[in-house]
Amino acid sequence: SNFTVKRIGCIGAGYVGGPTMSMIAKYCPHIDVYIFDLNQTRINAWNSDNLPIYEPGLDEIVQERRGKNLFFTTDYTEAVIKSDVVFLSVNTPTKHYGLGKGRQADLKFIELCARQIRDSVKTGHKIIVEKSTVPIKTAMAVSRILKTSSDSQATFDILSNPEFLAEGTAVKDLENPDRVLIGGENPAAIKILADVYANWVKREQIIQTNLWSSELSKLVANCFLAQRISSINAVSAICEATGANVNEVAHAVGMDKRIGSRFLQASVGFGGSCFQKDILNLTYLAEHYHLKEVADYFYGVISMNDWQKQRFAQKVVHKLFNTVSSKKLSVLGFAFKKDTGDTRESSSIFICSKLVEERAYLNIYDPKVSELQIMDDIMRVMNDAYDGDFSAHLDTTPESEMVRRCVKVIKDPYECVKDTHAVLIMTEWDEFKTYDWKKMYDSMKKPAFLFDGRNILDHSKLEEIGFDVYSIGVAEKNPAQW
Ligand code: UDX
Ligand code: UDX
Ligand code: ADP
Repeated sequence: SNFTVKRIGCIGAGYVGGPTMSMIAKYCPHIDVYIFDLNQTRINAWNSDNLPIYEPGLDEIVQERRGKNLFFTTDYTEAVIKSDVVFLSVNTPTKHYGLGKGRQADLKFIELCARQIRDSVKTGHKIIVEKSTVPIKTAMAVSRILKTSSDSQATFDILSNPEFLAEGTAVKDLENPDRVLIGGENPAAIKILADVYANWVKREQIIQTNLWSSELSKLVANCFLAQRISSINAVSAICEATGANVNEVAHAVGMDKRIGSRFLQASVGFGGSCFQKDILNLTYLAEHYHLKEVADYFYGVISMNDWQKQRFAQKVVHKLFNTVSSKKLSVLGFAFKKDTGDTRESSSIFICSKLVEERAYLNIYDPKVSELQIMDDIMRVMNDAYDGDFSAHLDTTPESEMVRRCVKVIKDPYECVKDTHAVLIMTEWDEFKTYDWKKMYDSMKKPAFLFDGRNILDHSKLEEIGFDVYSIGVAEKNPAQW
């Protein structure tokens, strides 16, 4: 056919849509790329010098292409109606109400997109690309909605094209992906999308499957990655009990090529917007098909993660002579991983809220997360409230009062640590390794404790300085009564 791609649109200017479209704009100067979002503030930020998300290398690409063939807009017609290919890159949070609450993906944003497209596009042909991670068979629902217009000449192809980028390395991952996966029923449509990626990705890395394999592969990939972390974290508990060292075990095990060395870093638990959500999705799906054993199997990955977070908080309390009440603790790192300002599902949120419940005072420092975000995250958890809930009333609850009284966000790491009883490393930020730890130690209350939730610091050096060091998956040298 004579279908050529002159303009690509994207609905949703978030962590996935923004970087992905910027990369397409970079490598396809012959294609105009329009990113649409309902949220005017977000669009304004994308059009400013202060982008709404932090990703190493992203600023340069946006600066280079913006206004040339990359446009951030709230103009639906420009971005969607006039585009040949439209990516759906809206959020698909876990439902926090009604049926499937806490487990099923909330597809209302995706469904809304499909209905908007059906009601506004009346002629021509469009390829609709599902980019958000969705439960298997979502493409089918989108397709059904698009085909129910009574007064339309428009035709559609639906493709699934899940994104595998990780936050903090989005630019690197997009530039050099392990694979690009395109699922669909119409080979011609798949070819058109594959040709876009072929501008910078090798053909043999662009793979095709049917719609459902593509949707399922994304969920499975995230389950497997999360499963590795829960496995090594389970092993970390055995190490602490027996005198083995989890770093040594991970290294030895990872050298088996069948296992591989990556994603075996024991930690205070995984966070991020994807892992838990996608596992919940998969287990919900399994239960829907009466596969309870499958659901239970994957659910174990989440249980282990919850336990690891709880275990860490308990260890802090235990080591500080069984009480942190009225003690001051410094928390270094609040983002769910380094090189991002994102805090969604960050272990730090859970652990901070547990310690506030134990009546500790917290000084929190993170190089990229705002004070507003940190306070809001802890208050939400302590109030049992969810993202998107109306939050005005949260301001006045006793829990929020307590958070305001007990939590301070401090912009300087040395100020943060000063006069505290213990340092808790929550995120693996590189800058933590470069601090003058002797200076930190001297400014702290004694005995000075350090809990390395990421195993990134040089523990023997810290012990030489005088710290009582506790890490993940390493047995204590002289397990004292306290
Ligand atoms: C295993 C380990 O591989 C080896 O490193 C260790 O020293 C001893 O245990 P083995 O039991 O001899 O070796 O064979 P292996 O190739 O690991 O297969 C074990 C079982 O898993 C077999 O029944 C095999 O058919 C099955 N398997 C293996 C699968 O079902 N799927 C796979 O992808 C791989
Ligand atoms: C993940 C997947 O990696 C990506 O492919 C998918 O597209 C989206 O979900 P992301 O959540 O951005 O990406 O970050 P990731 O690097 O996977 O880290 C997730 C969490 O696991 C972080 O909290 C990280 O600190 C933790 N983690 C990761 C570990 O605790 N140990 C590890 O070895 C690796
Ligand atoms: P992700 O991590 O999947 O990219 P984000 O929450 O970062 O998720 O981004 C999703 C974006 O989609 C948000 O900026 C949100 O405003 C936008 N969005 C959600 N629904 C719609 C819609 N119907 N039309 C336009 N934008 C939408």
